[in-house]
Amino acid sequence: MAREIPLDREDELLAFNTMLSGKTDERILLVEAQSGMGKTILLGEFEHSKPKRIAFAKIDFKGGGTSIAELFSRLRDKLGGKAKFPNLGNELKGILNPSIDISSNLMLGKNQIEAYLNGQDEQERQVRLAALTDAFFTDIRALGKLLLIFDTFEKSDESVKKWLSDSFLSRIQNSPNIFVVIGGQEVPEDNFEWDCIRRPLEGIPPEHWNKYVKSRGMKVHDEYIRACCKIFGGHPLNVKTHLDGFGVEGSKS
Ligand SMILES: Nc1ncnc2c1ncn2[C@@H]1O[C@H](COP(=O)(O)OP(=O)(O)OP(=O)(O)O)[C@@H](O)[C@H]1O
Ligand SMILES: [Mg+2]
Repeated sequence: MAREIPLDREDELLAFNTMLSGKTDERILLVEAQSGMGKTILLGEFEHSKPKRIAFAKIDFKGGGTSIAELFSRLRDKLGGKAKFPNLGNELKGILNPSIDISSNLMLGKNQIEAYLNGQDEQERQVRLAALTDAFFTDIRALGKLLLIFDTFEKSDESVKKWLSDSFLSRIQNSPNIFVVIGGQEVPEDNFEWDCIRRPLEGIPPEHWNKYVKSRGMKVHDEYIRACCKIFGGHPLNVKTHLDGFGVEGSKS
C-alpha cells in the first residue's frame, strides 16, 4: 500500500530529525494525541526519513496483549536475532533453576524469556527483570546508532507500560547512541530520571486541505473546507473523511 504522507507535520519531522542528528540534549520524543490525529502516519514518516544505515525497530502495541517477554523477544528478532544479543543469551542460560530446562531446544524465544522472568515471588521476578534489562541494554548499546519507535502505547500491558516508563527510559537516558519515539493516545508521564521532547499534535488548518483537494482534482468550496475544519477543530481523520465524501459526491454532479 502507498505510504500516506501527512499534511502540515513539517515541524514534527524537523523536531525528529534534529533529535536524531544529535543536536538536542534529549533523545526521547513523545507524541501524544487523540485517535485519528495522525500519530501512526507521522511515526511512519519518521521511519521513512531516518538514515538507512542505523539500527532500527518499530513495535506497535495496537492489538494489545504484548507481555514484557514478548517485547524482549520481538525487539531481539528485529535487531538482528540471537547473534546480536550475547549478553541476553548468557543471562538466560545462567539461571540456576533445575525445574526449568532453559537449554532445551523446545524452549525458544519468548518462552525461554517468559520462563526466566517467572520467578518464585514478586521480589525474585523484579530482580530477574532488572538483570535481563541490564543484559538487554548491554547488547543494544553495542549496536551503534539505534532508533526504537513504539506506537499505540496506551494499548500495551500495564506491566509493559511501567517497564517502558521506568526501567527502560531511565536506561535510555544513559545510552547516548539510542533514540526513542513513543506515540499514543497516552504516553509515559514525566519522570525525573529521564528528559524528553513532547510534541502533542494540533489540528490541520484549512489552507492545507485546500491544497489536498486541489491535488486530488476534487471540487470542494473553500467555505465548506473552512466550515469542516471549524466543526472538527482540524481533526485530520474527520476532516479528510468528510472532504473525501464530499469530493466523491461533488464529482458526480
Ligand atoms: N496530517 C495528516 N494529513 C492528512 N491526513 C491525515 C493526517 N493525519 C491523519 N490523517 C488521516 O487520518 C488517518 C488516521 O491517522 P492515524 O492512523 O495516523 O491516527 P492515529 O493518531 O494513529 O490514531 P489512533 O490513536 O486511533 O491510532 C490517516 O490514515 C489519514 O487518512
Ligand atoms: Mg495510531
